Amino acid sequence: MQQKMEKGVRDIFEKASAFTKADEFRAAGLYPYFTEFTGAVDSGEAEVFMGDDRVLMFGSNNYLGLTTHPEVKAAAIEAIEKYGTGCSGSRMLNGTTDLHVRLEHELARFMKREAALAFGTGFQTNFGALSTIAQKGDVIIADRNIHASILDGCLASFAKTTRFRHNDMDDLEKILHSLPADEGRLIVVDGVFSMEGDTANLPEIVRLARRYGARVYVDEAHSMGVLGKEGRGTAEHFDVESDVDIVMGTFSKSLASIGGFIAARRDVIEYTKHHSRAFVYSASLAPANAAAALKALEVMEREPELRIRLQQNGDEVRRELSTMGFRLLNGETPIIPVVIEDEALVCRFFWDLLKEGIYTNPVLAPAVSHSLVRISVMATHARDHIQQLLESMRKIGKRLEIIN
Ligand SMILES: Cc1ncc(COP(=O)(O)O)c(C=O)c1O
Repeated sequence: MQQKMEKGVRDIFEKASAFTKADEFRAAGLYPYFTEFTGAVDSGEAEVFMGDDRVLMFGSNNYLGLTTHPEVKAAAIEAIEKYGTGCSGSRMLNGTTDLHVRLEHELARFMKREAALAFGTGFQTNFGALSTIAQKGDVIIADRNIHASILDGCLASFAKTTRFRHNDMDDLEKILHSLPADEGRLIVVDGVFSMEGDTANLPEIVRLARRYGARVYVDEAHSMGVLGKEGRGTAEHFDVESDVDIVMGTFSKSLASIGGFIAARRDVIEYTKHHSRAFVYSASLAPANAAAALKALEVMEREPELRIRLQQNGDEVRRELSTMGFRLLNGETPIIPVVIEDEALVCRFFWDLLKEGIYTNPVLAPAVSHSLVRISVMATHARDHIQQLLESMRKIGKRLEIIN
C-alpha cells in the first residue's frame, strides 16, 4: 500500500516514480540489462549457458579466461575447505588470513612496488584509496572519462577535484599551471578507459607531473594482464613505471576473481591501511576470492602466451570490423567499442546478436559520450568463435543498415 504524504511536502520517492525509461525499453522488447546466465562451459568462459542455450561470451572482462581454469577453481575450493566461506570481520581484526598476506606480498612483487593492499572490490579500492590519500587542502586532477569508482573516491575525499578534457595534455597542463603551491597534487587516470578501450597518454602525464610536482595514480583494472611485456599494465607498456606513484588493479578482470588492490611505497600503503574507512570498516575479502586471485596471478605469469593470444584476437576483430565499415573508437586493447549512437538501435543490435548466440555489452549514455556496443575479446576465444562473431556482425550490421 502506498503511504500518503503530508500535503505540501515533496516526496523523496518522486524521482523513482518519474523513472520510466527501463519500463519503456521493456515494453518495446529492447531492454538489454540483467540477462541471466546459468553456467559457464569449461572453455575459459568463451562459451556460457543462458538456460539450455550455449552463448558465445564477447562481453566479459575475464580477459585471460581464467575463471574456469582448473587450477584457479581448485585453489578456490581448497580455500573454502580450509578457511570456510568468509572471514566475518575487518582485515584489521579477525579478517586477515595468511592467504591475504601472501596475496599482497605477491602483488607487490609482481607490480615491482614496496607494498600492496587488497580491498573487497575494485570499486572499493578506488573509493577507499583516493578518499584517504587526498584530503582537504589537496587537489585531484582527473581525466574526464575516469571510472565511476574513481570519481566517487574523489568526491568523498574532501579534496578539490578538477577534471581535464579526455587525454588532453594542454588542458591538464593549464590546470596544473594554475594551482597554488601549498596544495598537494594527485593526477588520476584510468590506464585503459573501460568503455572506450583507449589508453591514457602516460608518457606526457608523468612528464607534466614531474614538472609541476604532482603524484600520479593509475587505475590498471583493464590493463593488468593485458598490456606490458610482463602484463603489469599501461605504465609498463609505456616504460614509465618509476614515474607512477600508485597503481591500482582489480581481481575481477584478468585475475578471475573479485576484489582489488593498490601497490605503492610502503609508507603510502601503511597510511592507507590504517586510515581508509572502506578498508578498515568493511569485512575482508573471502578466502576463496583471495586464493583464486593468487592462483590466477601465478598462471598469468607462467603463461605469457595467453596475453599474446589476447592481443592477436583483439587485433583481428578490430581489423575485420573496421574493414566491414563499422565505426570503432581508436585503441589497441581487447575492448572494441562499436559506435552506433542511436540508443534503440544499440539495443536492437544487441538483441539480434544474442538471438544468433552472441553476447556483447550495450553501453548507453551517460556511461559514455557515444552509445555503443562494446565487444571484449578473451585469450580463450578460438578461431571459430571469432569467425562466428564476425559473420553475425556483418549480417546484422547490414540488415540494420549500420554498415553498407
Ligand atoms: C577502470 C575500472 N576501475 C575500477 C573498476 C571496479 O572494479 P570491480 O568491478 O572489480 O569492483 C572497474 C570495473 O568496472 C573499472 O572498469
